[in-house]
Formats: sequence, C-alpha cells, structure tokens
Amino acid sequence: MTDIIDGNAVAAEVRTGLADAMDALADAGTTPCLATVLMSDDPASETYVSMKHNDCEEVGIEARDYEIDPEAPADELYATIDELNADPSVHGILVQMPLPDHVDEREVLRRVDPAKDVDGFHPENVGRLVAGHPRFKPCTPHGIQKLLASADVDTEGADAVVVGRSNIVGKPMANLLLQKSETGNATVTVCHSRTENLAEKTRAADIVVAAAGVPEMIDGEMLSEGCTVIDVGINRVEADTEKGYELVGDVAYESAKEKAGAITPVPGGVGPMTRAMLLWNTVKAAGDAEG
Ligand code: GUN
Repeated sequence: MTDIIDGNAVAAEVRTGLADAMDALADAGTTPCLATVLMSDDPASETYVSMKHNDCEEVGIEARDYEIDPEAPADELYATIDELNADPSVHGILVQMPLPDHVDEREVLRRVDPAKDVDGFHPENVGRLVAGHPRFKPCTPHGIQKLLASADVDTEGADAVVVGRSNIVGKPMANLLLQKSETGNATVTVCHSRTENLAEKTRAADIVVAAAGVPEMIDGEMLSEGCTVIDVGINRVEADTEKGYELVGDVAYESAKEKAGAITPVPGGVGPMTRAMLLWNTVKAAGDAEG
C-alpha cells in the first residue's frame, strides 16, 4: 500500500504546535506580525498573499498588507521595506515574488532585515543554511522536512535526488538533506534541465523531490519500487473545467503512485506545508526579537 502523505493534516499539526510559542509571546505582550508586500497584479500572486493572510488570522498572527503599484518606481518598494525593517512591531517581512522587471530582485532580498526574512532568502540566511546553522529555513524545503519526518522516512544514508535547482526550493532542499542532522545525512544529487539521463538518476533514488516546474515530468517508469516521492510542482494546465485549467504536479501521480512507497498529492501535499512553515518562521522571528 502506498502511503499518501497528507500535507493538510501535517500542516494542521504544525499550526497546533505553534500554540505554546504563541502563548508565551502573548504573556510577554507580543503579537507576532507578518507584513506582506505585493508589487504585482498577477491573480496567482494575489491569491497566494491573501491565503497567507487567512493563515495568519487563523493562528492569531497579525498580518499587514502592503500593495505597491507594479508600475511604480522600484524606490517605492525599497522605501516600504526600509520602513518595515525599522518598525519593531513587524517581525516578519515577505515580499511576494516574482517582481516587475524594473525591480532589482537581488537588491530586494538584500534589503530585508535578515532577522525579519521569514522566507529565508537573504544572502546572510542562505549562507547560514549552507554552513549548517540556519536561522530561517525557506518554507517549502522546511515543510518537506516535516513531511518526510511525518511519514517516518529515514534520510540517513538515503540516496536523495532533487530535481530542480531554484534558490527557493531545489538548492536549499539539497542543503537540508545534506546536513548533519536527524532530517539530513542523505547522499544528495541535484538534477536540472541540463541533466543527462535523468531517469537513470531518479531510478536510483530512495527519495525524489520534484521541483522543476514541468508538469508531470516524472512518472512511475522513472522511479524505483518503494521510493518516497515529494511533488513540489503546482502547474496550471489547460483543461475542460469551469476555470479552464487544472493543477498538476511535476509528478505523473497515478503512475508514480504504483511504484512509490510514499507520495505527496497535488494539491494537498507540499503546498499547505509551505504556508504552515511561513507561520512557523514568523513566530520564530517574533520569539527571537523578544529575546
Ligand atoms: N513566490 C512564489 N513562492 C514564493 C515564496 O515562497 N516566497 C515569496 N516571497 N514569493 C514567492
């Protein structure tokens, strides 16, 4: 029987687990506060930000919403970030990506106070993660660690293949799996669009993390019997539905399920965990600020 890893259930556990830290902060008179900054009129980005606000509300985190006209000069975004950095009542800052072309994304990542960088994208936080002493782990790979733990997947000595080399998922995931820790100690291979013989590599893996952004690129033929499959993909593909599209992962679910010992569905796998770990990081930021 294949274990279908229920991201909604694990995310709910993470949210419940935040209660103690929230209570301690409340005793100290602190309400954790996340500021989101949206400089886009992309409906998907708008939806992601509004879901983050709903999540915050659900656990008692204050969420502040900053919206900047996507046509506005980049300086307007930088000034907003500076203002939020200087505001002691704001503990976490999330600038929703992608940003308009005229904005220097790297400047944005550098500009957010690393102590408020709940995405974990600031170069200082990236460096700390790579060096093995993370402050904020990026939400998606952090959530995947929790999913693997929840499914009792032993990473120690396992052959893990990460498909995708993004700064948001692939690279931090590979680093976390590599770390000398309970949820690491794997032998990690990172594959990407220029990888030759991808199937050969995924077939040799005990754990496959699919984060390439290519719909259903990994199917059962590319997997070994009993492996663990984590599907990070959320791809909109045209379909005869009310919305005109459906969401599919980077994994061809039905065929992969036949081979895998454990697998995450899309939706309901990694997505809810990414959202839960943002809350986790925000509460951590508030706790760190409290001392
Ligand atoms: N856009 C897509 N994913 C993310 C994320 O994890 N953080 C931010 N800030 N923007 C995103």
